Amino acid sequence: MGKVAHFALHRTQICLASVTYRPIWSKRGSSSSILPCYIGAFLSSVDFFRALSTLTMLHIFPDASSIAAYVSRKLIDKIRRNREVVLGLATGGTMEPIYARFVEQARESKLDVSGLTSFNLDEYVGLSADHPKSYAAYMDEHLFRHLEFDRSRLHVPDGLATDLTEHCLAYSAKLEQCGGVELQLLGVGGNGHIGFNEPGTPFDSRCHVVQLSERTRIDNSRFFEGNAIVPEHAITMGLHEIMQAREIVLVATGETKAEILAQWYEREVTEDVPFTLLKRHPRAKILVDEAAAGLLPEHARRSAGALAVQVHGPADCASSLSI
Ligand code: F6R
Repeated sequence: MGKVAHFALHRTQICLASVTYRPIWSKRGSSSSILPCYIGAFLSSVDFFRALSTLTMLHIFPDASSIAAYVSRKLIDKIRRNREVVLGLATGGTMEPIYARFVEQARESKLDVSGLTSFNLDEYVGLSADHPKSYAAYMDEHLFRHLEFDRSRLHVPDGLATDLTEHCLAYSAKLEQCGGVELQLLGVGGNGHIGFNEPGTPFDSRCHVVQLSERTRIDNSRFFEGNAIVPEHAITMGLHEIMQAREIVLVATGETKAEILAQWYEREVTEDVPFTLLKRHPRAKILVDEAAAGLLPEHARRSAGALAVQVHGPADCASSLSI
């Protein structure tokens, strides 16, 4: 068991012991003198369960392709169970191997994707769907054009909408009308953004227009070679909508994600790091490769096995998590 869990368990035991025994050995003890013990026990168990749930949602895989195999298998399983499933989709470098693997496996298994509905997280303001750097074009290139989807069920925010506020409201309403997202895929930005919800975004935000941070624009400039400039604004699904998904799978791969993953692990839930909000989701999984896990404290890595920080080999990754 990791140090964090040990520590929290120890504190919980001490305080629970005080709560249990104090009334017996000190009949004269007033309820006010016992109260701090109850509060201490409560807070310690909160600590304990928080530490435990942070550890249980984290899964370390050897590399990005093992994660791709796992996530692809999970998507296929969801679609097989419900051909009209609603998926929340992300873009970015992290998702590329996942979609490539999914397309390959879906073709091999002749998966019927025609009933599937999808909602993409975000889109750059000012880019048309056929602009090569738009997220609509990304989705087409990496996923949509490879399988027999019903295009009318695939939703990506419109970066050229004339009334952006109206468009955001309509996007939220459509999502709700479709019954919300069953499985939400997420990547994470180097500054902890999810979707394009930058640090400081209120937790109750819904689909909205965001001014991208300098950090995000610099990170994403790798996709805009030449003189092309990363747009300053984007439309993004809000944190409220992301947290409404019945299940969330966030993927972080490569050493550029190591720093933000360490922050996610160490910090309380805070608007400064939107990624930390996932600690409050009852069915969120954080899937990381060895490189992204590189700055996790040793005790978290050592907890692999004893707690549910699981290290998966390529062969067992499709079967070892319940999907
Ligand atoms: C993209 C999205 C973003 C990315 C994040 C990581 O739809 O919502 O939150 O997931 O910026 O991007 P990559 O995977 O390129 O590092």
